[in-house]
Amino acid sequence: MLPAEGGVTASEGENCAMASRAPSSAVPAGEVRRREEGKESVHVPVLAAAVVAAFGQGRREFFLDGTLGGGGHARAILAAFPGTELWAMDADRTALERTGAELAQGRFHPIWENFANLDRLARREFDGILFDLGLSSDQLDAAERGFSFRLDGPLDMRFDRSRGQSAAEFLQSAPHEELIRAVRDHGEEPHWRRVVAAIEAARGTATLTRTVPFADLLRRVLPPNFRSHIDPATRVFQGIRIAVNRELEMLERALPKALAALRPGGVLAVISFHSLEDRAVKQHFRSWSGLAVDCHDGRYAQDRVALGKQLGSGPILPDAGEVRDNPRSRSARLRLFQKNWEEEL
Ligand SMILES: C[S@@+](CC[C@H](N)C(=O)[O-])C[C@H]1O[C@@H](n2cnc3c(N)ncnc32)[C@H](O)[C@@H]1O
Repeated sequence: MLPAEGGVTASEGENCAMASRAPSSAVPAGEVRRREEGKESVHVPVLAAAVVAAFGQGRREFFLDGTLGGGGHARAILAAFPGTELWAMDADRTALERTGAELAQGRFHPIWENFANLDRLARREFDGILFDLGLSSDQLDAAERGFSFRLDGPLDMRFDRSRGQSAAEFLQSAPHEELIRAVRDHGEEPHWRRVVAAIEAARGTATLTRTVPFADLLRRVLPPNFRSHIDPATRVFQGIRIAVNRELEMLERALPKALAALRPGGVLAVISFHSLEDRAVKQHFRSWSGLAVDCHDGRYAQDRVALGKQLGSGPILPDAGEVRDNPRSRSARLRLFQKNWEEEL
């Protein structure tokens, strides 16, 4: 996934004391490709070497990439494990059409579906499952998708354009509390009151229908960020995208299904870019490891069951080389969970 445009994410500035730096990506910098006409992906996968190394620890027959995107991780997995078969989901049909056509071969099975519905797949068991959360560079760079505040386009922001509300419809009709959740909680915008008031005042006007007029509205109501030079619209765009796609809800629904779909010894890898996503992943992994989820966890130690273990002592972060080559990777956090080799009785 990518953080919001401009690279700021809610997880920046968090305490990273337990995090470790991954070796540079399996994908060489030279593979950073900008292709014409959107026929091929420009997305550079994040922490691909660490994902492949983790998946190498178990059996290597069946993998699931829940977020195919530009196919960077999918390609790395297929290349690293020559005998493996890979199922790949994406809510975005465009990603599947582009990347699916390129990777189409006997070992690759693309599926247009939200990963929250991974239990609907014909194959039910995997040795490795990956979620690389959020949006891809391909989506961000496509003006007509409405993710970018730099490119003028309709305010859409849906990964799956066949269902749900566009961002414009959301801004036009969301109840006050939902707008606050999007701007304050998902966007972590400190001046959320001003933003919510400005959105509500702009209802019924063309300002809420296209990216650039909406970004201009945000720039008028938000103070400029002289220190970081990050566009004032960044956080709000991120928050609205997360709300429109119900990203946290999809993740919460998917995580238990992913655990159930792991074969013994299988590894679940989640790359997140937002503190709320990372917290959800961390809490699930701790709970599945038989640990207290947090200081409010009232369960007795003897009531907690270890279904597996977390790999590593904390999140894995990209190293300086990867951040230099792919600045959008800088707020990525990879967490890994390995299911027990022995099934619980
Ligand atoms: C960061 S990109 C993945 C990039 C990919 N790993 C690569 O290396 O090219 C995230 C992708 O996940 C998709 N996505 C996000 N949430 C999803 C969900 N709940 N279900 C299915 N796909 C989702 C987006 O449409 C996007 O294409």
